[in-house]
Amino acid sequence: MDSKVAERGALENEKETPQEQEQEQVVNPWEVAAKDGGKIDYDKLIDKFGCQRLDPSLIDRVERLTSRRAHVFLRRGVFFAHRDFNEILDAYERGEKFYLYTGRGPSSEALHLGHLIPFMFTQYLQEAFKVPLVIQLTDDEKFLWKNLTVEESRRLARENAKDIIACGFDIRRTFIFSDFDYVGGAFYRNMVEISKRVTCNQVVGIFGFIGEDHIGKYSFPPVQAAPSFPSSFPHLFSGKDNLRCLIPCAIDQDPYFRMTRDVAPRIGYHKPALIESLFFPALQGETGKMSASDPNSAIYVTDSEKVIKNKINKYAFSGGQDSIEKHRQLGANLEVDIPIKYLSFFLEDDAELEHTKKEYGSGRMLTGEVKQRLIEVLTKLVERHRRARAAVTDELVDAFMAVRPLPNMFN
Ligand code: TRP
Repeated sequence: MDSKVAERGALENEKETPQEQEQEQVVNPWEVAAKDGGKIDYDKLIDKFGCQRLDPSLIDRVERLTSRRAHVFLRRGVFFAHRDFNEILDAYERGEKFYLYTGRGPSSEALHLGHLIPFMFTQYLQEAFKVPLVIQLTDDEKFLWKNLTVEESRRLARENAKDIIACGFDIRRTFIFSDFDYVGGAFYRNMVEISKRVTCNQVVGIFGFIGEDHIGKYSFPPVQAAPSFPSSFPHLFSGKDNLRCLIPCAIDQDPYFRMTRDVAPRIGYHKPALIESLFFPALQGETGKMSASDPNSAIYVTDSEKVIKNKINKYAFSGGQDSIEKHRQLGANLEVDIPIKYLSFFLEDDAELEHTKKEYGSGRMLTGEVKQRLIEVLTKLVERHRRARAAVTDELVDAFMAVRPLPNMFN
């Protein structure tokens, strides 16, 4: 497809004013809300944002190029949308490498399962394609948006870095940085190149900022845009201004990169490509939101086995029927069932997942049995994460965050 047609301009992409959006679903980096109590309409989101659906032929290509089975998150449609991912694969096929860029806003001490998804997936991409990766910790963003001191956001960034490292990143190919520590030099020069090319009207259109917002908000988007350009990392990519960038993220980050892609060609870089995920649903169901203020809406990587068990048994929204008789007769409604949804993210075995869906959907299996299986799967995952995190020392965090060349990053 002609990318000029597919990619509407940053301004044109945003079809509705913030007032009009209020009755509609709202998805931006700070708010995710479905239309009055319904589910997020992802087709509509793709249409509104102007990104593309990730079709099965692209997944086949990934398998061919990496000579390995695609990650569960690809096979099951967790990463479901993209921008120019095909171009990244074209270039890779020609023997050109690329680099990965992802990030996290360190707003909380403990991460929940939803937070791990982009990192688990990025780790797979790094290993499968053997490419370098930069991870931005936007401690400045969280200082600007949340009620946090500079010192507290910096501390959270380091704590979160441990959880990120625990996802298994390769230190020979990974640079993790905090904005408060790293922004300056070549990175800052790119920020001002970007700032000069984005008007106030554009950020108002893209992010919905209002006149009463402090100017910190208006000035932040270039900080998240800059890592999309290789020259922001002279210790890694010096002389490689042509290197392409692929950004795995949840789809709520799309506005930042729509803005970035609009600017990229005007300052002489490739537009960053994106591969975007669904949101991980709250335990209470897809209509609910996982919220930091309700610890019972999500499973945290710090939850004990007992807590996991209790949360799932007590809160995970079930599509099963009210009575056993009715359930045997009608079966479960898999569309709204959270245990099935969670298993489809985290149960690796395709055959077992299919079998469970069939048995549960036809009423032969009961909610309790499905929940029991989910408890096992998640306990194992959280246990593994906890062990890996415990092994991450302060020295290792320093090593990942050191501004240093990575001579073997493409090997
Ligand atoms: N803004 C993101 C957040 O609040 C953090 C982030 C920065 C990010 N750069 C990114 C996320 C690149 C995905 C990709 O979590």
